Order: sequence, then C-alpha cells, then structure tokens
Amino acid sequence: MKNFTQFESTTIAQGLIEKAIAYKHDPRADFGRGTGKKIGLIFLNPSLRTRASTQIAAYNLGMDPIVINMDKEGWALEMKEGAVMNKGSIEHIKDAAGVLGTYFDILAIRAFPSLTNKQDDISDFILNQFIRYSGIPVISLESAIRHPLQSLADMVTIQENWKGTKPPKVVLSWAPHIKAIPHAVANSFAEWTLGCGFDLTITHPEGYELDPMFTKGATIEPLQKRALEKADFVYVKNWSAFSEYGKILNMDSHWMITENHFQKNPSAKVMHCLPVRRNVELSDEILDGPRSLVQKQAENRIYAAQAVIDHLL
Ligand code: CP
Repeated sequence: MKNFTQFESTTIAQGLIEKAIAYKHDPRADFGRGTGKKIGLIFLNPSLRTRASTQIAAYNLGMDPIVINMDKEGWALEMKEGAVMNKGSIEHIKDAAGVLGTYFDILAIRAFPSLTNKQDDISDFILNQFIRYSGIPVISLESAIRHPLQSLADMVTIQENWKGTKPPKVVLSWAPHIKAIPHAVANSFAEWTLGCGFDLTITHPEGYELDPMFTKGATIEPLQKRALEKADFVYVKNWSAFSEYGKILNMDSHWMITENHFQKNPSAKVMHCLPVRRNVELSDEILDGPRSLVQKQAENRIYAAQAVIDHLL
C-alpha cells in the first residue's frame, strides 16, 4: 500500500485495525519510528477531528506534522490542465503538489467535492493530482468520494464494541440535514463494512441511492423502522442525492433517529462521524445516552491515523 485513499483488502484492513487497537493501549510504542520525518497536512476544507487526530498520531510516532490551511492561507489553486492563468487562480496544482513533495515524507490531503461537477468529483481529481505530482505517499483526509481514515476508526470502534461470534448487523441510516452534504463518509462506510465482511443494510428515502460502486453486496431497505429492528450498530449520516447530483430532495424529520426508534431493539449502538446537527440528524437523548459511540469513534481517529502513518513509514 503506497497511498492510503480507500479500502484495499480485508488483510490490510484487519492489520490496520489491530495496529490501531494496539496503539490505543500504548500510544508511544513506536515513538521514534518517525524521527527526522515530516508529514504535511493540507486542508482545502475545514476540519476539527481529522486535523487534530492526525497531528497527534504523527507526534506519537516522533514525526513532525505541518498543517497548511491551503483554502485560507495558500495561493488560489488552478486545477485545469493547460489553463491560461489570467484570472483568479495564482498557482497550478501540479506546481504546488511538486513543491510539497520535496518538503515532506508523507502528504495528507483534504479535498471535498464540488457537488456540482459529478464527473470531476467521481474521478477524485484533486486527490489524484496530488498523488501524481507530489511523488510521495499520500493519505486521504477525506476526498471527494471517500473518507477512509474515518472508516478505519469506525471499524476499530465496531470491533471494540462487538462481543458476538458472527459478523455484526450494521445499518447505515440516512438522516435529514439543512445543507447538501458529500457522499464520502457514507461511501467509505459501505466500502469498509462490506470489505470487512459485515452484514450491511442501507436505509434512505427515495432518490438517495448511493453510487452503486460502493454499495454492491448491501441490502437496501426503504423502511427505516424495519432496517433498525435487528441492527447491532446504526450509523447515522446525511448525504445529498447522487442521481440528482448534490440536490436536497427530502427534509422529513421522521428520519431523525430518536430513542423511540429503538423500542424493539434496546441494545443497538449508534454511530456518527461528527460534526452532527443535534436534533436534526440525531436527538440529544441518543447523543448523550449510553447507546452513543460517537466520542469513541472520534477518539479512535488518533489511532487509526497512527496505524496508517506507521504503515506508510
Ligand atoms: N469526522 C470528521 O472528519 O471530522 P472533521 O471534519 O472535524 O475532521
């Protein structure tokens, strides 16, 4: 694995999950492995968890992280090949990526989708330009279509909280939101749960079908109530429409999960990647109650990132 941008194989995923759990027990076990090395964390979009957890992960390995908020502090990037740069953009992505490749040992990039240009977003254009022109290992900190560090932390969280002998029943449940939200977390969660051999059911309103590239092998259940009945883990997430690309088609608040949704399934755990719109996506009683794993997921982001950086080092 030269870059970390997506689910690669069950063997690699299981190795990373086990390493992350080991780092959680002893965060400085491999301190010094990254001595003298630098990781550049390039943000084209906001972040709290990804920014802080990846820096801590680097420090735990003795590596120096340098954060560049390129959206606010860098030059406006030109993305188009052959562009005549006589308008707003100041630096071409290939020049910026090439320079960063000479400064760092690993680059990590956050680049959200436009949600307007479907083909560019599906091609993960910005992430792939950084991979192409930096010439060094690249970690996705959430790209246009995937959020693999989040999914790895989610797999760690499920493994830690699953005592059964069979693979858990996992439900990905769409939730309402006031803004058009990317598909990356939902796509990656489906990719990783299916890749890890879990039983995945996805429930969403009509029109919110995800890209089938990520959901092959999942059960699609239009009735949320039925989907939740036998779930061990319920992952709550909004995403905008994929078919009618980037559109909000539904704001029905009945899709917000509350304690009432678990009358027939009192032991189910609830997950969300955060940030969450309280009382829009999930109720306060769920987020502040015993079935919520959201804080554990966020904590596990450190050890997921640490396992990935260690692997690439
Ligand atoms: N879950 C997640 O990626 O959080 P941030 O956007 O705050 O990094």
